[in-house]
Amino acid sequence: MSHADDHAGTGEGTRRDFLYYATAGAGAVATGAAVWPLVNQMNPSADVRSLASIMVDVSGVEVGTQLTVKWLGKPVFIRRRSAEEIESARAAALTDLPDTGSENANKPGTDASDTNRSLDDAGEWLVMMGVCTHLGCVPLGDGAGEFGGWFCPCHGSHYDTSGRIRKGPAPRNLPVPVAAFTDETTIKLG
Ligand code: FES
Repeated sequence: MSHADDHAGTGEGTRRDFLYYATAGAGAVATGAAVWPLVNQMNPSADVRSLASIMVDVSGVEVGTQLTVKWLGKPVFIRRRSAEEIESARAAALTDLPDTGSENANKPGTDASDTNRSLDDAGEWLVMMGVCTHLGCVPLGDGAGEFGGWFCPCHGSHYDTSGRIRKGPAPRNLPVPVAAFTDETTIKLG
């Protein structure tokens, strides 16, 4: 082997090693860059934090009607129920409910009695995420469905006047988010 051949061979090997390490290094850097935004997303940005709570003026909501607001990118139903709707919701037997949990973030672990789902003791106000618990469609309101509450047209889920699933493929009652009256006509979500 000539000196020139030997030199070329050694040089090639070295270059190959260098390329290998350089590639591995670039890979490690790229992975680091890809992971950071994911980790960073776990800390809510200032935008998200400012949206985490909203105040909703409900002074214009008539008895027997519903206001739908968007919160954290999802619809929230704020319903001012009529006496008939409250009576119907409170007359239902727990044994008739497919989901016996209140699904109320304000009262975790409680049963699905209407008193555990309404915002006020009298039961006039019901606040729920307007997202079907089957596959996420927005249910229709204003007495829709066989139980006089909400009906999801996507696959036929019927919710009662307390937003509890009564018939159809949806497995859970419509969730009640963290909510509270801050004065007589303002509801704070979140
Ligand atoms: S998404 Fe509502 S029934 Fe399927």
